[in-house]
Amino acid sequence: MVAIPSLIFRKELMDALIKNAAKDLATCKQAVALTGAGISVESNIPPFRGKGGIWEKFDPMEYAHIDAFMTDPVKVWNALLKDMKGIIDRAKPNDGHLGLARLETLGKLNTVITQNVDGLHQLAGNTDVIEFHGNFAWHFCLACGRRVKTGQIDLSEIPPKCPCGGIYRPDCVFFGEMIPSQALYRSRQAASTCDLMLVVGTSAVVQPAALMPVVAKQAGAKVIEINPETTPLTGSISDYLIQGKAGETLAAILSELERLL
Ligand code: OAD
Repeated sequence: MVAIPSLIFRKELMDALIKNAAKDLATCKQAVALTGAGISVESNIPPFRGKGGIWEKFDPMEYAHIDAFMTDPVKVWNALLKDMKGIIDRAKPNDGHLGLARLETLGKLNTVITQNVDGLHQLAGNTDVIEFHGNFAWHFCLACGRRVKTGQIDLSEIPPKCPCGGIYRPDCVFFGEMIPSQALYRSRQAASTCDLMLVVGTSAVVQPAALMPVVAKQAGAKVIEINPETTPLTGSISDYLIQGKAGETLAAILSELERLL
């Protein structure tokens, strides 16, 4: 019985915050989004942290550190990368990705900074996507540097090999590697010049990506989080948190925004 009023209150709060976000987007000049694994959960790609997260099964230092890959590429390919290829191949953009693409079409969102490597923002239609942690769409040979589309990689032999005999690795950033300098530079630039940042589906615990909302906030931007859970940004860096799933929440914000424009 007690749960009912609190559920109603939560729904009312969500609706109010969704209306607020639509108003903030309607009046902002230049919004930027920072996204994380949570935006792709509704596309059936598991997140890294939390219940059902990839790091629940695999210790990232043992499977996602560059030293781990260089020491035992067979282990990393078998445990992590082979499955990841199948999961990403099957995934389609959800209402979260489509909402951000629609915001670009409406002239409200310029750039998406994503920590994801799944390419779903581009598939949804966003044209300026900064891939902070690289992407899984391409692999390159550790020996000769030859680049190949992931779809063309033959997985009948693990680790997959280049015609030169070298091992293929994904064009993603492993732990222990630098963020691509252009991605870092452009992200800081986008964060420091926007007047609104949407932070969608990230636990905001991995640096330097999690610094981007701080850069935006310090430059005077409004920061809105969309996440079912609180994060270290909640209540400090973000102006408000809309506590919901990315797809549902962005679809609701978009329908409200289109009424206002
Ligand atoms: P995490 O797995 O750390 O966090 C996912 C976030 O998404 C959590 O805050 C969840 O509460 C939230 N979430 C879950 N379902 C959601 C939904 N349906 N809608 C919206 N949010 C939802 O993922 P990231 O923050 O992206 O790096 O992780 C950052 C980096 O850590 C990754 O890029 C990866 C990882 O280790 C590297 O591999 C270098």
